[in-house]
Amino acid sequence: MLNRFIGLSAAIVGRSSRISGFAFSPLLKAGNQNQNRTMSAGKAFKVLVTHPEVPQEGIDLLKENCEIIQVQSVPTNRAELLEKIRGVDGVLWGGHQPLNAEALDAAGPQLKSISTMSAGIDYVDVPEVKRRKIPLGHTPTVLNTAVADLAVGLLIAASRRFHEGRKKIDNDQWENYHLNWLLGQDIRDSTVGFYGFGGIGQAIAKRLSGFDIDKVLYTTRRRVHKEIEEEFNAKKVDFDTLLAESDFIVIASPLTKDTQGVFNATAFNKMKQTAVLINIARGKIVNQDDLYEALKSNRIFSAGLDVTDPEPLSPTDKLLTLDNAVVLPHIGSATKRTRADMSTIAAHNVLRGLAGEPMLSPAY
Ligand SMILES: *[C@@H]1O[C@H](CO)[C@@H](O)[C@H](O)[C@H]1NC(C)=O
Repeated sequence: MLNRFIGLSAAIVGRSSRISGFAFSPLLKAGNQNQNRTMSAGKAFKVLVTHPEVPQEGIDLLKENCEIIQVQSVPTNRAELLEKIRGVDGVLWGGHQPLNAEALDAAGPQLKSISTMSAGIDYVDVPEVKRRKIPLGHTPTVLNTAVADLAVGLLIAASRRFHEGRKKIDNDQWENYHLNWLLGQDIRDSTVGFYGFGGIGQAIAKRLSGFDIDKVLYTTRRRVHKEIEEEFNAKKVDFDTLLAESDFIVIASPLTKDTQGVFNATAFNKMKQTAVLINIARGKIVNQDDLYEALKSNRIFSAGLDVTDPEPLSPTDKLLTLDNAVVLPHIGSATKRTRADMSTIAAHNVLRGLAGEPMLSPAY
């Protein structure tokens, strides 16, 4: 069913129906057999894996046909990466190191396939990769459910004041003799607004439909399919309407020059005073200083953030002093199964690129 959301062109079947939204087409197997035929040694391709903690599932797939070179340093030592990338045919780019002209130059002109192991690719100089005509894959979709689960967790935590409540316990400040102590916002009958309504946004909406919300509004460039709108009682609106009418606003869009900083003081001033803001996308979509002011002055009710600007966030950042900000260290896709699936998809992307076939999830 997720296939419908992500518009994967190939009807994909095979070993990994257990990876939601993905399984692998016969095309790939054919590709591998071709590789085997043309590579009598079976290891004609060199592939760099840029991080030692890339889950084994993907590496095992690559190993069938490729010699694996792996960056060992954690955190990544750029010099080691630039040295080991020299002369490789493919790269499984684990981690968020800049993937730019410097790295591509270091690799050399034989490089023919790259896949990241992430959905967002803001650390990749995509025009530069494109200019060199190197196929680039990424791993959206497989992380949708893990990120959506976390978003719902943040939404509840921020609306029901988990962080503030925990601090009350720590500081021995129970005031449960008050009848209105730590009252939060209801999810039932609410309007949930999505800034960005792709696979992740829709996975969040699907989960929230179990909480008896009233309706969904969304702001995107393009309208989603009518049947998706009907499924979630969702309506496309302009940004100002989204801000004015939503009880919860969930940021689920990519970071681009158009989305950078759009959640600023002007935006917060158009939101309901009871509104809860959730960001599971990228920190820079929010002007964090303006958010701090909006939360501090109770211009909006609370925020739940899995992403910040910068990351890592300093432990002395003023955002962390607020009772009404629930802040997590970018753990949206951090489940064991999701990461294993991401490495599998990334490996398939790399193999397809090497075989001269379309990638499972091309980034451009
Ligand atoms: C907020 O961003 C919008 C553009 O998205 C801009 O027009 C507006 O001036 C900004 N407001 C502030 C306070 O920076």
